[in-house]
Amino acid sequence: MKHILSAKDFSKEDIENVFALARKKVWPTLAGKVMAALFYEPSTRTYGSFISAMQRLGGGIIPISGMGNTSVVKGETFRDTVETFSKLSDIIVIRHPESGAAHIAAEVSTVPVINAGDGTGEHPTQALLDLFTIQSHFHDISEVTVTFVGDLKNGRTVHSLRSLLSLYHPKKVHFVSPRELAIPGITGSDNLEEVLPETDVLYMTRVQKERFSDPLSYERLKDRFRVTSATMKKLKKTAILMHPLPRVTEIATDVDRDPRAVYFREQIKNGLYVRMALLSLLLAT
Ligand code: CP
Repeated sequence: MKHILSAKDFSKEDIENVFALARKKVWPTLAGKVMAALFYEPSTRTYGSFISAMQRLGGGIIPISGMGNTSVVKGETFRDTVETFSKLSDIIVIRHPESGAAHIAAEVSTVPVINAGDGTGEHPTQALLDLFTIQSHFHDISEVTVTFVGDLKNGRTVHSLRSLLSLYHPKKVHFVSPRELAIPGITGSDNLEEVLPETDVLYMTRVQKERFSDPLSYERLKDRFRVTSATMKKLKKTAILMHPLPRVTEIATDVDRDPRAVYFREQIKNGLYVRMALLSLLLAT
């Protein structure tokens, strides 16, 4: 049994094994296997992607999108819920608003647990699909400058992708955010204009309203960084614009048509293939 809890647990060899399968797209059947998707927090892509991945592999699903119709509302504990589903399924995919929840799930589960996003902690499968997307554009990541922008403190996709990228030694990584939304302990800046011309991967993130206790702070910070067609003019012709989505206002919708914008065009489909590869590697006998 192997859980997927943190990007830090992956070696370069692990990553390349997943990517080789995702590129090859020759899948084993998972007929007879069941995946429980326990989503305590809203999701469009990760939930839909895991459900689609399991169904395309021929497996079964226990799809729980929101715990409002489960015995959680009667007071059942997180540990008891996870233990129950681990007896009903062969793998548990879990999203939870609290950082560390997937690790707790792994303590009680008798089947593998995949962290599908735990609060402000990590989102390792998103990081894998993001890295897969970057690799499909840039063969040698040691030549690539990556610029993360937005809510870097709360952005779990940034935390996980940063870990994976460190294994590939990118040329430079910039962290651009309002001071209040910087990753604690990491030197960043609030000047996007300065780093745009040298950026190869511009990774935008949403300011996460749901993580703010003070609505006024959110209103003050939410539109601090926006990508518009004017921003795209300053970006290299060979650069790519990524976003884990959902997008709110941080990328103007007309930018979606720019061929360098890969969030709808590539990341979502890559997520499906990467998750099919992960499920195959964990469950195929
Ligand atoms: N990228 C991502 O995690 O999106 P969802 O919240 O829609 O799953």
